[in-house]
Parts: sequence; structure tokens; C-alpha cells
Amino acid sequence: MQIAKTVQDLRLLLDNCTKNIGFVPTMGALHAGHLRLIDVAKSKTELVVCSIFVNPLQFNNADDLAKYPITLEQDIALLTSHGCDILFIPTTEEMYKKKTTLEINFSYQNSVMEGLHRPGHFNGVAVVVSKLFHYVQPKIAFFGQKDLQQCLIISQLVDSLSFPVAIEIVPTVREKDGLAMSSRNVRLSAEARKIAPILYQNLEILAANLQQFITTKNECLKQLTINSSLEVSYIQAIDMHTGLVVENFEKGKKYGLCIAATIDNVRLIDNVITVY
Ligand code: PAF
Repeated sequence: MQIAKTVQDLRLLLDNCTKNIGFVPTMGALHAGHLRLIDVAKSKTELVVCSIFVNPLQFNNADDLAKYPITLEQDIALLTSHGCDILFIPTTEEMYKKKTTLEINFSYQNSVMEGLHRPGHFNGVAVVVSKLFHYVQPKIAFFGQKDLQQCLIISQLVDSLSFPVAIEIVPTVREKDGLAMSSRNVRLSAEARKIAPILYQNLEILAANLQQFITTKNECLKQLTINSSLEVSYIQAIDMHTGLVVENFEKGKKYGLCIAATIDNVRLIDNVITVY
């Protein structure tokens, strides 16, 4: 695997490349979910580029940024063993040579779920992903379903700004007990780790009871709040076609059931996609 630390080095590696490039943008602390993205990218494209960059612009909470796990050596070993071809690891100075005041406003998506609870987050994601798309020039970019709303805003970004890249959403990889793989899981205390699979369990209950969504959601919220170390930010259903939050469902249509909660100061999100 070749490693580029600057945009110039990356472009030197890619400039004469005629292969279809698959791109997996990450913030590192890689786990099996990221490695699945690399494997899918390998199976669908001819040259796989991964980036590791903890993007300060998308953190609305300084503490979350400071505590974000960094495991670069381990990440390099994992990417090498999974056949990643090029790793791009820029510094913050390299990515933001000039301070940007650009703001990308996703209007409706900023007013619901992650957009509502993490002001500025999607702007930060969109700015860095746009820059990375320009540097890497991928044919297909791969994103994990766990960040479902992020997948929606990136698709909106690509459509609206005509990026010549296809977005592929790869299903969430889970621990044996159902907990969605996340770089933040390592920050869970032993007690919080035991509680965490309850998020997925509740999503499964909701998926099985979509015809009584509101009642089931209220029961789930009641059950979840019995746990004093768990605080639910939201439980919402989105129409996968329109991206709108809904409470009524139409037969045959696809919905994303999403949850976000903080357990012992660690914020976790999860979702399942289901057809009604
Ligand atoms: O999903 C992530 O890890 C990040 O939001 C991304 C897409 C790499 C942008 O920083």
C-alpha cells in the first residue's frame, strides 16, 4: 500500500491512473465496518483509495473531537492486509490551507435528527467530502449505512453539485450482540457496552411494528429511559425515497428507522432499513 501525506503526493500517485477508483473516506480507528467498505470497494473497482482524516470542521463538540480515537499504525496494518492500494493521511493544515467560511446548507436535513442535534456537522462533512472527491476523483465512493443521514446528504451534495461519482451505501456491520460497529464503541465503559445493544433491539421492535409506529416508539422511549445512564436524542423514521421524516407508512415503500442516544457520555447512532 502506498501512503500519501499531501495532496501533491496523492495526485502524483493518481495523475496517470486510467483505472476506476473506489474511495473509502474515513476518520480512522478502523473496525470491521470500515474493512467491509474496503472489501466491497475492492470487489467493484480497480484501485482502492482510503483516506484517514479526523475532520475538525464536522465536530460541533470540542470534547468529542479531543476524545476521537486515533490508531494509525493499526489502521495501516489493517488496510494493508485488506489490499487497500493507496492511503491518504493529510494533516489539518494540508486539508485546510486556507480557512474556509463556506457553508453548505442542507436545509431540511439540517432540521431533523443529526442535522438538528449536531449544528454545523453536515456542513463540515460536506466540505471535507467535496475536497476529498476533488483530490481522489473516484468513480464510486463507499459509505456505511450506520451514518444513514450522512449518506442522504452526501447523495444530495453529489446530485446538486454534479460530482461525477456514484455513492454506494454498504450495510452496517454488527457485533454478535447486535451493536453497530463504530469507532466510538471503544469509549464505552464495560457497563455502557452491556447496555448499548438495546438500541438495535429497539429498532428491530419498531421494524416489526411499523403499523403502530407512534405507540411502539413511545413504548420504546419509556423502556429506554428506565435506564438512567441512557439518554435518547431521537427515534425517527425516514422515507428512503424522499429523505423526509414520516409517521405514516405506505405498503411496499422503504423506510429507515433511526435512533441516537448517549450512554455514559458516548453518543451512538444506529438504524435499520425496512420495507413496509
Ligand atoms: O463517516 C465518516 O467517517 C466521516 O464523516 C467522513 C465521511 C470520513 C467525513 O469526514
